Amino acid sequence: MNNIIEGYLGKRVDGKKSRLPAKLDFIQSATGLFLGLFMWGHMFFVATILISEDALNAVAGAFEGSFLFSEKQPLIVSFIVFVVFCIFVVHACLGMRKLPINFRQYQIYKAHASYMKHNDTSLWFWQAKTGFIMFFLGSAHLIIMMTNPAITAEISGGRMYSHFMWPFYLILLLAVELHGGIGLYRLCVKWGWFEGKDAKETRKKLSKVKWTLTAFFLALGLITLLAYVKVGYKYATQNQNASHIEHVMQKIDTDSMKARI
Ligand code: HEM
Repeated sequence: MNNIIEGYLGKRVDGKKSRLPAKLDFIQSATGLFLGLFMWGHMFFVATILISEDALNAVAGAFEGSFLFSEKQPLIVSFIVFVVFCIFVVHACLGMRKLPINFRQYQIYKAHASYMKHNDTSLWFWQAKTGFIMFFLGSAHLIIMMTNPAITAEISGGRMYSHFMWPFYLILLLAVELHGGIGLYRLCVKWGWFEGKDAKETRKKLSKVKWTLTAFFLALGLITLLAYVKVGYKYATQNQNASHIEHVMQKIDTDSMKARI
C-alpha cells in the first residue's frame, strides 16, 4: 500500500521520500569507479604489445591461468569478461536514468547549459553521448572477447587488420577515454574526494589532472592500435606468401606428375 501511495504522491505515508534513488546513484558511482580503474589496467594490458608480441602473449597467457595449469584455460578469460560485462550492463542501466527521454527534456538541458556556460554541465553531455556509443560498441567488444577468449598478438592483430576492426576500435577508444576521464573527474567532484579547503581551486586542479590522464591514455591507445594493425598486416602478408608458396608447390607437383604420365 505504501508503494502505491508513494507512486501517486511521490511521498510515503510518513512524509519521507524513498532512499532508492540515492542508493542507485551510489551503485552507479561504484560501478563507474570500478570500470574506470579497470580501463586503466586494461589499457596497460593491451599496450604490452608495444614491448613485444611475446610480452602480450605472456600476459594474456597468465590471464588464462598458464601459471596454474599445464594447458591454458581460455574459459577463465570468458568468466572475467562475463563479470565485467555484468558490471558494464548495471552501470549502463543506471546511467540511462539520467538521459533526456524526450525533445522537451533535451531542450531544457540545452537552454540550461547555454545559459549557465558551466564547463562541468557541458562535459556531462559529452559523457551522455559517449556512454550511448559505448552501449553498442562496448557490448560488441565484450561479447567478442567472451566468445573468443584466446588472446594472442596474432589473433588480436588479425581482428584489427584482416577483419577490418580498427575503425571500430578507434571510435570505441575515443568514447571510452572521454567517458572514463570525465566520469572519474565527476566522481571526485560529486563525492568531494580530494576537496581540501578551497573547492573551486581543487576543481581546477582536478580538471587539469583529468585532461592530462585523458591525453596520456588516448596517445597510448592510438599507438597501441597502430601496433596491432602492424602485427595484423605482418601475419596477413606472411599467410598470403605461405599460401602462395603452397599453391606453387602443388602446381609443381601436378606438373611433374603429368610429365611422368
Ligand atoms: C575483461 C574484459 C576485457 C578484455 C579481456 C579485453 C580485451 C581486449 C583485447 C585483447 C584487446 C585488443 C584487440 C582485440 O583483441 O580485439 C582490446 C582492445 C580494446 N578494448 Fe578491451 N577488453 C575488455 C574489456 C573492455 C571494456 C569494458 C572496454 C570499454 C568499454 C574495452 C575497450 C577496448 C578498447 C577501446 C580497445 C582498443 C585499445 C587500443 O587500441 O589501444 N575493453 N581489449
